[in-house]
Amino acid sequence: MRILVFLLFYHCATENAKSYKTSNPNFILIMVDDLGIGDLGCYGNKTLRTPNIDKLAKGGVTFTQHIAASPLCTPSRAAFLTGRYPIRSGMAALSSVGVFLFSASSGGLPTEEITFAKLLKQKGYSTALIGKWHLGLNCNSGNDFCHHPLNHGFDYFYGLAITNLRDCKPGEGSVFVAGFQSYLATLLQLIGITLICLEMLHYVNLFRIPCGARGYFVFLCTFGLGLSLIFLYSFRYLNCFLMRNHQIIQQPLSYKNLTQRLTEEAVQFIGRNTDAPFLLFMSYLHVHTALYASKDFKGKSKHGLYGDAVEEMDWSVGKILDVLGKWNLNDKTLVYFTSDQGAHVEEISSTGEVHGGYNGIYKGGKSTNWEGGIRVPGLLHWPGVVQAGFRIDEPTSNMDIFPTVVKLAGIPLPKDRIIDGRDLMPLLQGKILQSEHEFLFHYCNAYLNAVRWHPGNSESIWKAFFFTPKFKPEGSNGCYNSHVCHCFGSSVTPHSPPLLFDLSRDPEEKNPLTPQTEHRFYEILDIIQQAVNNHTKSLHGVSNQLSWGNILWKPWLQLCCSSVFLSCYCDHESDEKLGLP
Ligand SMILES: *[C@@H]1O[C@H](CO)[C@@H](O)[C@H](O)[C@H]1NC(C)=O
Repeated sequence: MRILVFLLFYHCATENAKSYKTSNPNFILIMVDDLGIGDLGCYGNKTLRTPNIDKLAKGGVTFTQHIAASPLCTPSRAAFLTGRYPIRSGMAALSSVGVFLFSASSGGLPTEEITFAKLLKQKGYSTALIGKWHLGLNCNSGNDFCHHPLNHGFDYFYGLAITNLRDCKPGEGSVFVAGFQSYLATLLQLIGITLICLEMLHYVNLFRIPCGARGYFVFLCTFGLGLSLIFLYSFRYLNCFLMRNHQIIQQPLSYKNLTQRLTEEAVQFIGRNTDAPFLLFMSYLHVHTALYASKDFKGKSKHGLYGDAVEEMDWSVGKILDVLGKWNLNDKTLVYFTSDQGAHVEEISSTGEVHGGYNGIYKGGKSTNWEGGIRVPGLLHWPGVVQAGFRIDEPTSNMDIFPTVVKLAGIPLPKDRIIDGRDLMPLLQGKILQSEHEFLFHYCNAYLNAVRWHPGNSESIWKAFFFTPKFKPEGSNGCYNSHVCHCFGSSVTPHSPPLLFDLSRDPEEKNPLTPQTEHRFYEILDIIQQAVNNHTKSLHGVSNQLSWGNILWKPWLQLCCSSVFLSCYCDHESDEKLGLP
């Protein structure tokens, strides 16, 4: 390790003469949805084929302790784009719903937040987001687009405003129906019992049901039920649409050649910007459910449809790298690859097929702050600037991309706000050996769940949990009863004193330390508590973007490209138009 660092140091010293290389590079930031750290060849997977991503690792730096700022899409992405903990922008929920589910809700990344795209655009970069956004759309009317990517620094947007969901693909089941069914069953039982009681009272002459009331009651119930069913039925038409800039181009979205279309958009964007600096945020819909794969990939992997989706995504990464090579842009382009959080281990299809990824040796997954939920793949490729095949085991964060990208573009960091990310270049170039993240705070929505402490000049990585999710069934590796784990109430076990691990000795988080097994037990917890106090003092009240009022469906915000009785439909990009097979 030390020798490698020295080599890197030497290498960079000689590279400094050619420092023109490191100013105003292009950026391609690739984010996969719900990909597990154990799904990639370069992180040890032997059966999934990811040759293109492995090539990125081979030619660049691999982070082995790359931490997502949140184990859920919406907050993790907010942190990625702003370099700040989601709690600072109000993108962390107090309720149990931590992400946006409807296109017509009013919450989203506040306009006052500064994304790296906004700063780079001001500096003359061409900026594009291709793929998933999931950070809101409108505030007050159906066309103010206050939270839209084009209002957050992107010149070009092609993709999905919300997120891919089972409900977007017919036959793939629903993330709502299970909850809805039990709610409905309870409601029907209550109504039934009330009706029977009233009829009995009526029969024994203790209570008179006013005439006509029965009919009115039945009408109300049917109406409510009907509305709910229509909403469930139209979910796909109302929420799963593709946009190009402000325009809806396919509603509902079609999965046919979807990855090919996203890839083609990326290839064309790069082709349009071969002699100007650009920023491409390639945000794959893969490998979140509903899973899909095109003809060439379906049934080809050793891991069912999930594996097919990973391999198709890898193919797409390869196409993007090819086009960089074709335009001779390799040395001028920093390519970053990551996942927004760990694999969603609870994802099992209705037929019992595993639809979630693999988090390697790490415990838990998406929606938890066990390492499986937040330790994500992190690769950084930049030939001639970062050492090929280098490995960094220090804690790094997906929030670090913000200051790294902004500084490389020659832009000073905003001074009017706290930026939690740290510039990665000193670590990448061997100028420092220790991460500047002495502490990292792991939130479950708006609740501080755990703290990671990496003391200076020490190998130790302490991690203290204030509560842990209750896995169900007990002894399993996830919250299979509720699809995701929740952050408070009866869903968690509180810990006082906090549950303490040393990840450097116990990365699987199997053996909590005790005052007997760790003589500094209380001293470590004291220092962590002090850091929590300082961190908490740095937080300011902001409006909660994920309050019920901000996440519920607001009919007046609904976008519809052409309305056909309670559903929306249009398809401006059939395959023929693009000339795809
Ligand atoms: C590779 O990934 C697949 C799909 O997530 C997983 O089932 C398998 O266990 C992984 N294999 C290894 C050796 O890590």
